[in-house]
Amino acid sequence: MRSRPAVWLRWATVHGVPRAFLTVRARRGEPLARLILGRGDRLALIEEIRAAGPLMRTPVVWATADYDVCRTVLRDNDFGVADPSETGLPDALLGLIRRVDPGLPNPVEPPAMLMTDPPQHTEYRKLVSRSFTPRSIAALDTRIGELTAELLDDLGRRREVDLIADYAAQLPAAVISRMLGVPDEDRARILGWGETGAALLDIGIGWRPFRAAIDGLVDVDTHLGAHFRRLHQNGADGTPFSSLALDGSLSGRELISNAALLVGAGVETTVNLIGNGIAALLDHPDQLALLRDDPGLWPSAVEEILRYDSPVQMTARTAHRDTEIAGVGIRKGAVIVMLLGGANRDPKVFDRPQTFDITRANARDHLAFASGIHVCLGAALARIEGATALRELFTRYPDLHLTAPAEPRDLVTLHGYRHLPVRLGRAATATRRAS
Ligand code: HEM
Repeated sequence: MRSRPAVWLRWATVHGVPRAFLTVRARRGEPLARLILGRGDRLALIEEIRAAGPLMRTPVVWATADYDVCRTVLRDNDFGVADPSETGLPDALLGLIRRVDPGLPNPVEPPAMLMTDPPQHTEYRKLVSRSFTPRSIAALDTRIGELTAELLDDLGRRREVDLIADYAAQLPAAVISRMLGVPDEDRARILGWGETGAALLDIGIGWRPFRAAIDGLVDVDTHLGAHFRRLHQNGADGTPFSSLALDGSLSGRELISNAALLVGAGVETTVNLIGNGIAALLDHPDQLALLRDDPGLWPSAVEEILRYDSPVQMTARTAHRDTEIAGVGIRKGAVIVMLLGGANRDPKVFDRPQTFDITRANARDHLAFASGIHVCLGAALARIEGATALRELFTRYPDLHLTAPAEPRDLVTLHGYRHLPVRLGRAATATRRAS
C-alpha cells in the first residue's frame, strides 16, 4: 500500500502516535522523552538517565546509560530485536500498522539482518559477510587510499569547503558503491538515500522526513532492483555482493533490503565518524599536536572519537522471555533502550569519561559498534575509512580551521554534523612537491 493517504497512516501509527505521547512526557520533564525528541542538552540528559540507576523505568520502555547493562543485554539471547507484536501494543494499532505497510525494502525492518533474530539473522549475516572477508577489505583499503587522495586533490582547488558534503560523505558513499558494484556516478543518489533514510532510525519523526524517507526507499527499490536485474543479464562483476545476488540464496526482497542496509548502516555512520573526528580534533589542538608528533597514534585516536562522540547513539532490544538484568525483573515484551553514547562515557569503565584523550588505554572497549550477534559487520572497514580520511586530511592541510561553527544534524540516533565549513590553508604535499 503506497498511496499517499496509506503512507500518512503508516506515519501516524508508527511515528505520529508515539510522538504525541513523547511530547506529553517531555513536557513533564522525562529525560528519555526529551532526549528522543531532541529537546535539551544531550549529554546532560544522558547523565540524568545514568543518575536514575542502571535501568530507568518509563511508562513504556526501560532506558540505560550503564556500560555493563548495555553490553549484557546486547549479548543476551533472552533479548532480540524489536518486534512490534511482542511489545504490548494494542491489537487494533498493530493490525493497522500491518495494513499500511508500504512493502518497501527498509533497512530498519525485516528482512534486513539488523532487524531479524536467529536463525534467520545467522543465515543472512553468513551470506552478507562474504563481502567483508579480509581479502575484500584489503581490496577496499587500497581503493580508500586512492579515493582519499583524489578527494583531497579536488578540495585543494577551492579555498573554502564544507568538509561534510565535499569530503566526509564522499568516501563512504564511494566505498559502498564499489561494494555493491553500482556505478560511481550513483554516488549522489546513494548519499541521498542515506540522508533521507537516516531519519527512520529515530522514534516519533515528523511527517515530512518520513515522507522523504519513503520516497527514498521507493527509489532504492527501483534502482537496486534494476541493478540486480542487469547483473542477472550480464553476469557477476567480480564483487562478492554480485555473486550473492546471482547465486539465488536470497529472494529479491531479502537482497534489496540487505543492500539497502549496507547503504544505511555504512554511509551515514561513517560520515559521522569522519565529521565528528574533524570537529573533536579541531576542538582539541593539543591532541592534534600529539598525532603530528606520532602518526602511529591515529588508530587509537579513531577509537577515542568513536567513544567520545559515538556516531550511533542508541539502539533497543525486546525481552523474548521474563528475565532479570542488574537485579531488576524484566517482563517478556519489555523494550530496553540502550544509550550507547552514554555507555561510552560510563565513569565505571572510562576514567575521566568527558575528556577527549587519544592516548586512552581502553578506548577500544567502547560499544560504538554495539556487541553480540548484531555487532557492526562493517567495523573493520569503518576503522580504515576513518583513520585514512582523518590522517590524510590533517597531514595534507595542517592549517585547516573552521570558518563558522560546526552545524549539528537534527537527528537523535545518528549523531554528527550537517556542515563543517573550513578554510583549508596551505597544502603540505603541494608545498613539498614545489620544493
Ligand atoms: C563508524 C561507522 C559505523 C558505526 C558507528 C556503526 C555502528 C553500528 C552499530 C551500533 C550496529 C549495531 C546496531 C544494533 O545492534 O542495533 C551496526 C550494525 C551493522 N553495521 Fe555498522 N557502523 C558503522 C559502519 C558500518 C559500515 C561501513 C558498514 C558496511 C559497509 C556497516 C554495516 C553494518 C551492518 C550490516 C550491521 C548489521 C549487523 C547485524 O545485524 O548483524 N556499518 N553498526
